[in-house]
Amino acid sequence: MKVINWTYALDDTALLENHMMPSYPLGVNVLLARVGGSVYAISGVCAHMACPLFTGKLEGYIITCPCHDWRFDIRTGKFLDAPELGLVTYSTKSEDGKLFINLKSKIDTKLL
Ligand code: FES
Repeated sequence: MKVINWTYALDDTALLENHMMPSYPLGVNVLLARVGGSVYAISGVCAHMACPLFTGKLEGYIITCPCHDWRFDIRTGKFLDAPELGLVTYSTKSEDGKLFINLKSKIDTKLL
């Protein structure tokens, strides 16, 4: 199997529905979440004061930072109270029982 631009993040079975897990592909802090059968990947570091988001709370598509309760949509990375702010998001895919992240697919949330 040849994987181009995709970096292994987790085994597919490790990420359960309505759960999130941190991953550090190539040293990049990424948070993965599975909701509605889809896997989303966003920066694992809060846009406010850099708290680790994996210790926060996931409700539906919304993750709440554990430090000061900023809320982000895991689908877009947008900060709910000010959508011009947000987190980097990454494309994901599942292949051969493994989850991969395309670190080159960073989406500038300011353009969404
Ligand atoms: S560090 Fe996340 S809300 Fe403050």
